[in-house]
Amino acid sequence: MMSKTLWLESMKYQKAQHPETTSSGGDFLHELTRRDQVFSFLKPPYNPKVDVKNGMLLYVEGVSVSFDGFKAINDLNLYIKEGELRCIIGPNGAGKTTMMDIITGKTRPDEGEVWLGQQLDLLKMDEAQIANAGIGRKFQKPTVFEAITVWENLELAMAGSKTTWHLFRARLTGEQKCDIEKVLALIGLETQYAMLAGKLSHGQKQWLEIGMLLMQKPKLLLVDEPVAGMTHQEMDRTAELLRSLAGDHSIVVVEHDMEFVRSIASTVTVLHQGHVLAEGSMKDVQENPKVREVYLGQ
Ligand SMILES: Nc1ncnc2c1ncn2[C@@H]1O[C@H](COP(=O)(O)OP(=O)(O)OP(=O)(O)O)[C@@H](O)[C@H]1O
Ligand SMILES: [Mg+2]
Repeated sequence: MMSKTLWLESMKYQKAQHPETTSSGGDFLHELTRRDQVFSFLKPPYNPKVDVKNGMLLYVEGVSVSFDGFKAINDLNLYIKEGELRCIIGPNGAGKTTMMDIITGKTRPDEGEVWLGQQLDLLKMDEAQIANAGIGRKFQKPTVFEAITVWENLELAMAGSKTTWHLFRARLTGEQKCDIEKVLALIGLETQYAMLAGKLSHGQKQWLEIGMLLMQKPKLLLVDEPVAGMTHQEMDRTAELLRSLAGDHSIVVVEHDMEFVRSIASTVTVLHQGHVLAEGSMKDVQENPKVREVYLGQ
C-alpha cells in the first residue's frame, strides 16, 4: 500500500506536469473514472524520433519576441550540436531565460523558427509535447519533493506523466531499477538514496533535480543558473556532472558565475539585448572588445 504522503507527493507531481488536467485530487480521480476517452497513461508515449542527420540538435533562427513593445529577444540565432555543452552568459535582462521559455514552448516568439533536429517544429508543439520530445528544463529553484526519499523522487520522475505513480511503482522492472541506480551514481547520491530529499544540502537538491530530469532520458537539457547559492566544492562537482552528461546529451547552461563557466570550458555564447553579441571559447569572448564594453562599460 502506498502511504498518504507518497500519494500526495505523486499528485503534486502530476499537477505540476499537467496543470490543465489535474487541478485537484478529486478531478484526477474523476478523470480516471471517465469512460469516454483513452487515459493518457494507456496511450503509447509520444516520443518522436529526432532526426539529427547533420549532427545539429537545436536550431533557433531569426527569433524575436516583444513584451509591450520592448524587444526582449531580437533576431536571435542559436545552433546546438548533438552532445554539445554550451554556456550562455550575458548581463541581467539580456533575454537568457526568455530564450529558454521560447525553446520549451512557454513563450511564443513573434518571428523566427525553432526546430529540434530536422523535423520537429517546436513552434507547432505545446509545452508537454516539447518535454516529451526530449527537452528537459531545470529552473533555478530546486523543486524536489522533500517529504519523500531520493530514490522515490527519481522513481516519481521516471513515471512522469505516463502513469499514476502507484501503478508504476508496483511494476518497476529490473531495467528501470538499473536506470535509477545509474542516475544515482551520476549525480553522486548513491549513499543518500534512502534519505529524505528535504535533508539534502542545497547543492545535493540541485543534483537530485538534474537526476530527475535525466530519468526522462532527455536529448537536450536546459539549465538556468545551476550554481547560485552553492559552495565552491559543490560548484566543482556540478561542473564535473555537467561535463560528464555532455556527449550523451546536449546541454545549455545559463550562468552568471564566470569562474564556473570557465571551469566547464565549453563554447560560450554572449547574449546582449536579446541578440548574440559574441560566441567562442571563454578566452575569445573575454578578449572581445564588444563583450568588454557590455560587461565593464569600457
Ligand atoms: N513575461 C514578460 N513580460 C514582460 N517582460 C518580460 C517578460 N519576460 C521577460 N521580460 C523582460 O524581458 C527582458 C529579458 O528578461 P530575461 O528574464 O529573459 O533576462 P535574463 O537574461 O534571464 O536576465 P537574468 O540574468 O536577470 O536572469 C527583461 O527586460 C524582462 O524584464
Ligand atoms: Mg534569467
